Amino acid sequence: MITIISGTNRKNSISKQVAIQYQEILNEQGVESTIIDLEKLPADFIASALYENQGTNVDFNPVREHMKTAQKFVFIVPEYNGSFPGVLKTFLDALEFPGTLKGKKCAIVGLSSGIQGGVMAMSHLTDIFNYLGMHVLALKPKLIRINGKMEKGKIADDSYMKRLRDQAQAIIDF
Ligand SMILES: Cc1cc2nc3c(=O)[nH]c(=O)nc-3n(C[C@H](O)[C@H](O)[C@H](O)COP(=O)(O)O)c2cc1C
Repeated sequence: MITIISGTNRKNSISKQVAIQYQEILNEQGVESTIIDLEKLPADFIASALYENQGTNVDFNPVREHMKTAQKFVFIVPEYNGSFPGVLKTFLDALEFPGTLKGKKCAIVGLSSGIQGGVMAMSHLTDIFNYLGMHVLALKPKLIRINGKMEKGKIADDSYMKRLRDQAQAIIDF
């Protein structure tokens, strides 16, 4: 079982579309997955799920518990201001520390409208995950100029799909 995290709360994000497509790829490869969509975080999340309120938000607690028991993750990470979205860091800050991610494994996919493909976003996130004790798969696809590669909510580019399939197989075997 793999947990896919769509790394932004922006409505109608491409990240969510890629997360759904990634789930289809894992399905084809015979592996079950579930999606955590940061767009669905409780609206009062910042005020009620962090710091002294950790563990007290009844809407967020099931997600927090899921993150504690899940062992393998795929993070779909859009490039925002040369890094990953702040809401993703806030999500990580709301998880039980230390221990939620320690010893676990993940893969990261980077997307951007520009030419970096989230390379710095993935690098920044890798530093954090390694600090937290999570092993990050070295294969990190950079899906540059993603906006122009989408058709009807799906990636319509064979080389991008091959990169995701190769990564999916690698995280399954990781
Ligand atoms: C707040 C914000 C900052 C962004 N910063 C960058 C950036 O630094 N470089 C870039 O190539 N694209 C940037 N983008 C565009 C996203 O990478 C692009 O929209 C891509 O489709 C993935 O984002 P999405 O999942 O929100 O659709 C930014 C988008 C937003 C909303």
